[in-house]
Amino acid sequence: MLTKEQVLHALKDVNDPELNKSLVELNMIRNINIEGDKVALDVILTIRGCPLKVKIQEDVENAVREAGAADVQVNFGSMTDDERAALSQQLRKEQQPTANPAIPPLLAEDAKTKFIAIASGKGGVGKSTVTVNLAVALARLGKKVGIVDADIYGFSVPDMMGIERRPTVIGETILPVERFGVKVMSMGFFVENNAPVVWRGPMLGKMLRNFFSEVHWGELDYLLLDLPPGTGDVALDIHQMIPQSKEIIVTTPHATAAFVAARAGAMAISATKHELLGVVENMSWFETEDEKKHYIFGRGGGQKLAEELNVDLLAQIPIGAPDNDIDLDDEAFAPGVYEENHPTARDYQALARKVIAGIQ
Ligand SMILES: Nc1ncnc2c1ncn2[C@@H]1O[C@H](COP(=O)(O)OP(=O)(O)OP(=O)(O)O)[C@@H](O)[C@H]1O
Ligand SMILES: [Mg+2]
Repeated sequence: MLTKEQVLHALKDVNDPELNKSLVELNMIRNINIEGDKVALDVILTIRGCPLKVKIQEDVENAVREAGAADVQVNFGSMTDDERAALSQQLRKEQQPTANPAIPPLLAEDAKTKFIAIASGKGGVGKSTVTVNLAVALARLGKKVGIVDADIYGFSVPDMMGIERRPTVIGETILPVERFGVKVMSMGFFVENNAPVVWRGPMLGKMLRNFFSEVHWGELDYLLLDLPPGTGDVALDIHQMIPQSKEIIVTTPHATAAFVAARAGAMAISATKHELLGVVENMSWFETEDEKKHYIFGRGGGQKLAEELNVDLLAQIPIGAPDNDIDLDDEAFAPGVYEENHPTARDYQALARKVIAGIQ
């Protein structure tokens, strides 16, 4: 007959998918009851209506069956406020390698996460699209990746990635939402019904800081920051908060766009000392079926900008939305993410490799 110890042992490698920690270690497995080859147990979730309940149930059932149970009954409960507060404390402590508690661990000087801000001069050139697809490409290459949607007013990352759920909040700790292997934090998660955000200056900075200090990012190799367009407050805030951030400038091939983008590049270099990784030219051409390229938005802007800023032109991304003939109800659908075997996804893979090589 199975013992409690055997059941706990079988569950020791079953992790909470968001916290990436063992359910046993998190004290989420309780009231194990064994009768013959029947096992019943409670799983105490961090919050009621945990979005990952189904996955947890499956993992627990499979593990206990593998240990020899013929029948597994999982009952769900949720932590008390006190338990959540204690867990939040525990998560914070683990995240706190810095001597100075005022500095979030992610922003500590010796943190190993590489920051990449995606900036542009003009709006609508494809910063968010590049951020999202570069992040997914890095994740597909096996990297641990996060995105901070720093466009507080004009957030678009959750929508582009097809994220419909909100982050789990445990006490004062927020867990980023994971999609396509990328952890995401956005103001969009905290706004009801697409309502406008009406904050100004200091609140914006505070919100951004919270995205680093209150969010349990876990280990990250890269954190991408989708900046709002132009050279405004948020861009400066980010620069001050994360002086070590690298930067990618996005432009369209049009000469005017490149001219405006040069200002964003100049700001990165002079005002903030962010190192520029290079330029991404987006919407470079439209390719017809006869494989002819049509330079709808002009030509050469990216190259010219790269020369002006004395950096590389890292990628030229053609015009073409991710294939939208995908089933809208499909789990894997996201309006702004190219499927792995789409030619544009391959362009992003090449970009991701250059980015990895460019930041050592
Ligand atoms: N290569 C592309 N081909 C076709 N459509 C694209 C391409 N890149 C971006 N788009 C579309 O263009 C629009 C603007 O892109 P996106 O939102 O990424 O730009 P942005 O620079 O982040 O804009 P904002 O300045 O408003 O934040 C979006 O609708 C996006 O889907
Ligand atoms: Mg954007």
